[in-house]
Amino acid sequence: MSLYRVLILSALSFFLSLGQALAEDYSVNVIRFSHVVSENTPKHQGALKLKEYIEEKSNGEIKVQVYPNSSLYGDKDEVENLIANNVQFICPDMSKLTRYDPRYDVPSMPFLFSSDQAVLDFWDKGKGQDLLKGLESEGIIGLKCWPNGFKNITNNERPIKKPEDLEGLKIRTQSGEVLSAIYKTLDASPSSIAFGELFTALQQGVVDGQSNTFSNIYTKKLDEVQKYMSVTKHNRVDYLLLTNKRFMDSLNKKTKKLVMDAVEVATKKERELSISLNAEAYEKLKEREQMEIYELTEEDREDFREALAPVYEKYGSAIGQDVIKDAMSW
Ligand code: LMR
Repeated sequence: MSLYRVLILSALSFFLSLGQALAEDYSVNVIRFSHVVSENTPKHQGALKLKEYIEEKSNGEIKVQVYPNSSLYGDKDEVENLIANNVQFICPDMSKLTRYDPRYDVPSMPFLFSSDQAVLDFWDKGKGQDLLKGLESEGIIGLKCWPNGFKNITNNERPIKKPEDLEGLKIRTQSGEVLSAIYKTLDASPSSIAFGELFTALQQGVVDGQSNTFSNIYTKKLDEVQKYMSVTKHNRVDYLLLTNKRFMDSLNKKTKKLVMDAVEVATKKERELSISLNAEAYEKLKEREQMEIYELTEEDREDFREALAPVYEKYGSAIGQDVIKDAMSW
């Protein structure tokens, strides 16, 4: 065969495969994203960005259904349904993943992260990169950390200014041993309650208080059933954006690229909103004047830090001293 014919044939086969790739269909029609928080939150708005990007770029060929407020699955069954591929994206608070890997207690450790940026650095550049893989044995891929923010304590009994003010209070926790240990160390009684049941549990006095981000307190109207809030910022609610490995492996190249691009765009949006929506929520909570608000002084924070030092002795090795050291370093 002449060189000329070889060149023509290879050019033809190149354009043919390019044409095929362009004409390739998307390999999925519907993607479901389930979560437990309200609509005006960083997590829901991030999920909506993922939806908007995928639907726009696929010209509506792929539909993304987003279910907020535990309307599809709640804290108790969302991971199992992700494993079963009944839902393709969830984004749980990491404390709810500690039964799979104790290292997911890292956001719950008291006074560990120095700032919102330190959290992002840990997950994007530090030991968090290893933690993304903590659910691989369950067939789950950890994609990105979606931060929410620092937590603050609310309750119905008294202003919390010093560690001893928590004594005897019944406090709702998200999940995980570290949150439990924090309240036990302060002589309070912790109990884990699903987010979807939190408002009623506070209203009915099942528990006296809880701790959460400004965004969650405001959007779930917890100030309607709580009298006091202390701005403690003692630990965090941070999420892991998770997907099912079988689902990802089933996607053709074109679909996978679209989904992964959407994850990048949505992550950026969620992270920006985690800052602005929490700041806005704090202002709104102050304006609504439903709770008496106390901001811990540096001295108060030091007292809490000291009182909670035993939590590091107890859980430092389960989480890993290397992980803790790295989280502190940013
Ligand atoms: C909570 O249960 O308080 C939070 O983890 C809910 C959430 O997803 O932000």
